[in-house]
Amino acid sequence: MSAGTRPDQPPYGEIVQFPCRQNNYGYLLADPLMGRAVAIDTPDAPALMAILEERGWHLTYILNTHWHEDHCGGNAWLKEVTGARVIAPAAERDKIPTTDIAIRDGAVILLGSLTIRAIETAGHTAGHLSYYVPGLGAVFTGDALFTMGCGRLFEGTAETAWKGLERLVALPDDTRIYCAHEYGDGNAAFAAACIGDQEVSARAAAIRLHHGRGKPTVPSTIGLERRTNPFLSLPLAAQRENKGVEAECFASLRLMKDGF
Ligand SMILES: [Fe+2]
Repeated sequence: MSAGTRPDQPPYGEIVQFPCRQNNYGYLLADPLMGRAVAIDTPDAPALMAILEERGWHLTYILNTHWHEDHCGGNAWLKEVTGARVIAPAAERDKIPTTDIAIRDGAVILLGSLTIRAIETAGHTAGHLSYYVPGLGAVFTGDALFTMGCGRLFEGTAETAWKGLERLVALPDDTRIYCAHEYGDGNAAFAAACIGDQEVSARAAAIRLHHGRGKPTVPSTIGLERRTNPFLSLPLAAQRENKGVEAECFASLRLMKDGF
């Protein structure tokens, strides 16, 4: 599926999203006028290559969100075939040996008329990055933020993870969230179990229906997640009541979800 095309106004960009592996999504972000594209992670290198060939796009960069195999396992193959350069989190350089350019929070990557900004969203892994494309109103969140959920904390504290989520939730409400996994169904069940709110219940029911029909629950939007994702809405509500308790609230939710 494709989204994000705004042929009438610069910058001109296109996002191609496709399901792969058990529950991953692969993504290409392109400036079709320039014929250049970047891959956000490489969960399925041959599938990415097939889309590049079909569209006639040259792969300029591979942008890795983090070092897990289902995110960078296709780097070497794609790099060899296309000559693309690999951009990855500096904190994970040793774990992503194909890295050409190591970057940190705030780094800017240019692709034709598109600007891509790295946002640190560590916690799932030590250096996890999300990639924000303001011109298209899109953010690629890897395993940091999912539809109605968030990634497990393997290499970071709840404080670190919350800091990253705060950066994401500060993006404009209509920013589309392209995450790396289709976890909407399980996340919606947890959200509905811990929040009695009508909008949450309605969204959870819609996601269940959507999922049952094999439809994706991605992309979502920042505004929708701020209101209905318990990992954002509950810590933010706690923060309004008593500033300073938000990371603690996030930590207990994460523990509850791990045992859900
Ligand atoms: Fe991961």
